[in-house]
Amino acid sequence: MQRPHVILNAGMTLDGKIATRTRDTKISGKEDLERVHRIRERVDAIMVGIGTVLDDDPRLTVHKIPSERKRNPTRIVVDSRARTPLSARVLNNEAKTIIAVSRKAPDERVRALREKGAEIVVCGENKVDLKCLMEELYKRGIRSVLLEGGGTLNFGMLREGLVDEVSVAIAPVLVGGREAVTLVDGEGFATIAEGVHLKLKKYYPLGKDFILEYEVLR
Ligand SMILES: NC(=O)c1ccc[n+]([C@@H]2O[C@H](COP(=O)([O-])OP(=O)(O)OC[C@H]3O[C@@H](n4cnc5c(N)ncnc54)[C@H](OP(=O)(O)O)[C@@H]3O)[C@@H](O)[C@H]2O)c1
Repeated sequence: MQRPHVILNAGMTLDGKIATRTRDTKISGKEDLERVHRIRERVDAIMVGIGTVLDDDPRLTVHKIPSERKRNPTRIVVDSRARTPLSARVLNNEAKTIIAVSRKAPDERVRALREKGAEIVVCGENKVDLKCLMEELYKRGIRSVLLEGGGTLNFGMLREGLVDEVSVAIAPVLVGGREAVTLVDGEGFATIAEGVHLKLKKYYPLGKDFILEYEVLR
């Protein structure tokens, strides 16, 4: 299977949360946000789940650092039922946007998103088939993807073996909360052996945070 190289990145608290129970996400510092934008600058696409679009309404562009790039990376939203609001900032004209939907997505929603300029990729019956999506992205010339969460999509991508690198900024704060979002949610793996095993490649302090970069072991 030919697919893009995928880097999963997130800013998390020391207790592994990427959003609090109230969905506050101001976790890592300015230096880390600039680091993330430097990664954004070198990839072909940035991908998030619909949960992140609904909670945060992100722009998913390179805007926190000066950039030589002529065009922003392509934005990808994994959104089985085409729930992306027509007012969402990912649909603005700052970059191309692909909405990945399943065959369950209502026709009228798909039509409305197309009219807003999004490209629709259909993969899977109920949920988006992530392997199919990665193949479709590769066919469109996308060779590198920055996966920016949230926890549910991160688990889906890891479970399918579609992640190559993981980098996290660990902020010196603890927030707890059963309802908070963690780096990897979903149903989880049953045993440590089944988990996704990583090799630590690089680690360094950055501002108030600490950066860890890993390679996914196969
Ligand atoms: N701190 C950080 O760096 C950071 C980064 C990103 C996000 N976040 C936070 O994370 C939170 C959102 O996380 P979340 O877990 O609720 O949502 P999410 O991971 O952004 O989106 C999950 C949704 O994606 C859709 N999806 C479709 N196909 C899928 C598949 N095969 N596998 C997995 N998901 C699939 C599902 O909705 P449908 O069935 O409707 O398609 C699913 O509920 C937000 O609060 C955001 O602030 C934090």
